[in-house]
Amino acid sequence: MKILFVGDIVGNPGRKILKTLLPGLKEEYGFDICIANGENAAGGSGITYTVAQELYNAGVDVITLGNHAWSKKEVLNFIDSDPRIIRPANYPQESPGKGSTIIETPAGKVGIMNLMGRVYMENIDCPFKAADRELEHLKAMTKVVVVDFHAEATSEKNALAWYLDGKVSCVLGTHTHVQTADERILPFGTAFITDVGMTGPHEGVIGVDRNIIINRFITHMPARYEVAKGAAQFNAVYVEVDVLTGKALDIRRVSQIST
Ligand SMILES: [Fe+2]
Repeated sequence: MKILFVGDIVGNPGRKILKTLLPGLKEEYGFDICIANGENAAGGSGITYTVAQELYNAGVDVITLGNHAWSKKEVLNFIDSDPRIIRPANYPQESPGKGSTIIETPAGKVGIMNLMGRVYMENIDCPFKAADRELEHLKAMTKVVVVDFHAEATSEKNALAWYLDGKVSCVLGTHTHVQTADERILPFGTAFITDVGMTGPHEGVIGVDRNIIINRFITHMPARYEVAKGAAQFNAVYVEVDVLTGKALDIRRVSQIST
């Protein structure tokens, strides 16, 4: 199975470059499913119904979220009924939405799980234990499982990848908006990258207008964030998985900049 996973889509610049590049990438990689982290897709924080439809229409099959899952309250109107959008599985069980989903693709079924880190982030349930819980029902349905681990600390991402090596097809880090150059396949067949990167503005500070952020660092005064303008970047990873074993065969970084 061929999978394209798109790193955090930020605002209109991210959606625009996604729409521009996805048809060509589909031709180049022939992926069976496109998964994208969309927690910053609407105005740089959260997701709305209209924006989710825009991503689906562009060719995204499944949307994952993270710490900005609830930033746009409108998400509560559709997160329970839409099987293609998931939020971190280690949010409290009482939270709306679900932490994993199973999607039928031309190459077979794929399970997608979303988890969130706890280091320098919200103090939610243990992502390691949550992964085990979700895997119990996913593994009964398919051997191919993709994990989006939305986390800040490189150590936590590396630890979870090693913990899940051989249990899932890939652990793909999101949230930091900076693509790391450490993609590899671990000994028992799990593909891993610490962070897939960002699909959004290229000339800001991880997606936000750079002057606002520079000023915030200098003055320590609160400021309203705005999505940066200018050139855009597209960050993703391509992963190929053996559907019979669920083990990864290949992981490649995708990175493009448009003016
Ligand atoms: Fe995030």
